[in-house]
Amino acid sequence: MEVWEIEMSTAHTSAQSAKLILDGQEYDLPMTVGSEGEVGIDIGKLRALTGAVTLDPGYGNTGSCRSTITFIDGEKGILRYRGYPIEEVAEKLQFLEVAYLLLYGKLPTKAEYETFVASVNQHTLVNEEMKNFYVGYPRRGHPMAILASLVASLATFHPSPNEEEVELNIIRLIAKLPTIAAFSYKMSVGQPFVYPRNDLAYCENFLHMTFALPVEPYIVSPTLRKALNLLLILHADHEQNCSTSTVRMVGSSQANVFASVAAGIAALWGPLHGGANQRVIEMLEMIRDDDMDFQKYVAKAKDKNDPFRLMGFGHRVYKNFDPRAKILKGAADEVLGELGVEDPLLEIAKNLEDVALNDSYFVEKKLYPNVDFYSGIIYRAMGIPTGMFTVMFALGRLPGWMAQWKEQRETPGGRIGRPRQIYDGETQRPVPGFDAR
Ligand code: CMC
Repeated sequence: MEVWEIEMSTAHTSAQSAKLILDGQEYDLPMTVGSEGEVGIDIGKLRALTGAVTLDPGYGNTGSCRSTITFIDGEKGILRYRGYPIEEVAEKLQFLEVAYLLLYGKLPTKAEYETFVASVNQHTLVNEEMKNFYVGYPRRGHPMAILASLVASLATFHPSPNEEEVELNIIRLIAKLPTIAAFSYKMSVGQPFVYPRNDLAYCENFLHMTFALPVEPYIVSPTLRKALNLLLILHADHEQNCSTSTVRMVGSSQANVFASVAAGIAALWGPLHGGANQRVIEMLEMIRDDDMDFQKYVAKAKDKNDPFRLMGFGHRVYKNFDPRAKILKGAADEVLGELGVEDPLLEIAKNLEDVALNDSYFVEKKLYPNVDFYSGIIYRAMGIPTGMFTVMFALGRLPGWMAQWKEQRETPGGRIGRPRQIYDGETQRPVPGFDAR
């Protein structure tokens, strides 16, 4: 039997290499340390040296890239964009400032910000021909399916033949995604599309396109504007999560930004990722309609024979608390209070959180509310229908996806994403004729 041993310095910051002993032979694997002291064993040459690969389904132990965009310390509940703590970013910045920060690595000066906003505003319209696409979808079609398709379709209107066009397409996508999302909402409720208004700020413009009707004036509520700004900022990036890794994977084949982001939207849709925000509300409604029996659902979530999970609970990286959930819990009280909305689901959510946080199953497994737990309650209070929640997540995540796509593209020596596998199937055998099958 082959014996593996791996030895590395425990003084992480001074570690130079890790020693791997495979079948009696020693190999030195270089170590790498990030700016926050995260340690990685560089296995880039592992297969060439040893003939072996690593096996890490779900990539829980795999660093897929080096990145300077977002830092998370899941044990401490820390999230920072380009070094700035999420709490401060959420309190002080506008979403487009955050988009600029993520994309270009620095906060914009006033002049840079004005230029950025002006260029976004210049591209908010979608080509009139795109309106025809909406007609082809069933009215009850899920808006995430429509969003992914229409974003991919943008590549047909805006090919990227040169670098200038690539940069412009990033701006175009930031500008057009709210329009595409608002149009899909309007289609789902049978109302006429409302065109963007470039005199409005980003969040106001989305609310205007979503809620305005041609027959009466629509004044954007400052509470809604503020809430949306906060929600978009809190979702703006989250390092190498499922959808972002998808965007990077697709981008690694040098696919254009629209195709890469469309793939990210598809990945986000799943209920274990961004689709959880829709599922949280459906779960809370189910509990409401079941005599508010939280204990029953906590018990179901703990039962290994029951596929039910507490949606909006747990996270691959956060093992203490999700700082975004903490901010949103406070915001939910504030927004519902300001809007005068009384939603029994908020109370159910708080009760469920209390019950779960005092249950040894959740405590031992370090399962806490994540960003999706309270976001849906705020969207609901804002009048956004449940089916649109994951679209809202996508609107927020867009700058993060594009910043990661851009970073990958601009990093020299990038390679196509192409993992290996451990094959467990049949070994070679001859194809039998019909009579022998
Ligand atoms: N309810 C009940 N048990 C859970 C839950 C939950 N929500 N989440 C994890 N567990 C259990 C799981 O059964 C496993 O138990 P055991 O060790 O006995 O097999 C253990 O906790 C570890 O779970 P895991 O599935 O191995 O953890 P993961 O890191 O692979 O998955 C997760 C993370 C977020 C997919 C998972 O916690 C989950 O399914 N949560 C519910 C869906 C959800 O809220 N997703 C949104 C994530 S935050 C937004 C985003 O960034 O996408």
